[in-house]
Amino acid sequence: MKAFVVHELTHPSKIPLTTDWPLPTLKKDQIMVDVYAAGLNFYDILQAQGRHQTKHPLPFVLGSEFTGRVSHGFPIPAGCQLKPGDRVFGVASGAYADKVAVSVNSVLPFPDSLTFEQGAGLFVTWPTSYEALVGRAKLQSGEWVLVTAAAGGVGMAAVQLAKGLGAKVIGAAGSQEKLDIVKKYGGADYTVDYTKKGWQQEVLKITNGRGVDVIYDPVGMITDCLKCIAWKGRALVVGFAAGAVEKVPMNLVLLKNISLVGIHWGRYQVCEPGHMPSVYKAVLELLTSGRVSPPVVYKDVYTLDTLGDGLHALESRKTWGKAVVRVKEDDSRIEKAKL
Ligand SMILES: NC(=O)c1ccc[n+]([C@@H]2O[C@H](COP(=O)([O-])OP(=O)(O)OC[C@H]3O[C@@H](n4cnc5c(N)ncnc54)[C@H](OP(=O)(O)O)[C@@H]3O)[C@@H](O)[C@H]2O)c1
Repeated sequence: MKAFVVHELTHPSKIPLTTDWPLPTLKKDQIMVDVYAAGLNFYDILQAQGRHQTKHPLPFVLGSEFTGRVSHGFPIPAGCQLKPGDRVFGVASGAYADKVAVSVNSVLPFPDSLTFEQGAGLFVTWPTSYEALVGRAKLQSGEWVLVTAAAGGVGMAAVQLAKGLGAKVIGAAGSQEKLDIVKKYGGADYTVDYTKKGWQQEVLKITNGRGVDVIYDPVGMITDCLKCIAWKGRALVVGFAAGAVEKVPMNLVLLKNISLVGIHWGRYQVCEPGHMPSVYKAVLELLTSGRVSPPVVYKDVYTLDTLGDGLHALESRKTWGKAVVRVKEDDSRIEKAKL
């Protein structure tokens, strides 16, 4: 099968596609899935170079979040309700390939109303943003939310979810193109360019001097954002896309009675697996009911052959929304289009 295989640790832009990789071997609790689309994540770039905390023995297939269909001709563990051909989304190591073996605990049925590309970020990206806003920050309808890197993968999902949950959203990003996208596709009420000095004054102006109730920060710029947080606001620590683990002066936390709140979605698998189904259910309900618009997919959809370019574009801050690789064409949609 075709697979994006890391034979030696290097930057993904230097990795050629492997066309004769063996099919994955199924473990007892796993099903085989034909991958249709997979989400690009920053940690792929780190893993390919051996710079991520998760280290796979060489050689290994890169990729994690995916959508696809349960493969025909492979065993399905007893008790698993899925059948060959079912549409699914999930997470498994080795998703940048024609087929992936996935634990039955890491795969769910995928709704017909979304395309495989739209679903490629549904297992990690979307629940991260939902659990951050709802589970951790207890976001209420009518509150102000500031999202940094609002055009990025988790940022755009946060903008869309916060809007769907009735919040007033300010999206912050680093270029006019991205700000336009955050408004047009994400539905943000306001946008600010956070590369411009004093951008926090703009946020204060928008909120009539009050500041925002919730900060959603995947960049590592909480300290900067605290200049425009409201009294008793909540600041979500989502990630450090800027590269460095941020250190926040604790006097700022004290002065405005604010809460710093962490979110690490992957860790729920270990610490609170029983909570995860309710999050997936809520995200899917918001998306399928139309209360939240479908996930925004970056305009250039990559293939396994051009995946290295896609990861390079992600790293270079060129992408917006969820950057996705299409592994297999959705034939059911082609059939529908013919009717
Ligand atoms: N906590 C969790 O459970 C969880 C789950 C998923 C992801 N994350 C983390 O969230 C962060 C964002 O992930 P993502 O998938 O949204 O990434 P993404 O789509 O690549 O977006 C990241 C954005 O961050 C902004 N940015 C600011 N400074 C940057 C810099 N120095 N280098 C690169 N980008 C910079 C860029 O937007 P502008 O050009 O607009 O500045 C960039 O587009 C990552 O650190 C990831 O590890 C956390």
